Amino acid sequence: MKIKVITSNEGKMREYARSLGALGYEVCKGKVPYDEIQADTLEEVVSHGLKVLSETEDSFIIDDSGLFIDRFDGFPGVYSAYALRTLGNEGLLKLMEGVDDRRASFVCCIGCKLPGRDAFTVSAACEGHILEERRGSLGFGFDPIFTTDGERSFAELDIDEKNRISHRGLAVAALVDRLRSEEGR
Ligand code: IMP
Repeated sequence: MKIKVITSNEGKMREYARSLGALGYEVCKGKVPYDEIQADTLEEVVSHGLKVLSETEDSFIIDDSGLFIDRFDGFPGVYSAYALRTLGNEGLLKLMEGVDDRRASFVCCIGCKLPGRDAFTVSAACEGHILEERRGSLGFGFDPIFTTDGERSFAELDIDEKNRISHRGLAVAALVDRLRSEEGR
């Protein structure tokens, strides 16, 4: 089956190509600009995207993700893109200076619309914490400051290693489970 990933984020695209590709899906990139709403949850943002894009596209997936820092009640969360643009990783590390509780999680919500089927969302989270300093040069976004094992940041993992444990890798597994169980019906 061919799956079109609508995203302008090359880092996400590489991860989808790898994870879905390994499961036998043919992955292509769709560039369909659309306005994302600002909402309280990733699911709301994705559900709105599904609605808007379904008017012109009949087969695609979209992804909205965020970094949720416990000590800041989940900030930047749904504001992650804005926080990365304005504060950057250095700014977030500065905000975290002297903060002992460094727990954080990445969350990924995937929206999926396939021909003749109802659209749906699946989400997954990956628990970890914020490092004291940036590490690594792979990946994208907040990868250099996030770790699950306290040793290596996401930016020190290759794509397959990251996909095995990441929010996006786990969300893809949930997506594929759902697609396969629907196919088996
Ligand atoms: P978006 O709105 O889903 O594109 O993502 C919000 C922000 O989180 C963007 O700045 C992304 O670069 C960042 N982000 C999303 N997923 C990841 C990830 O897997 N690793 C690091 N940063 C990410």
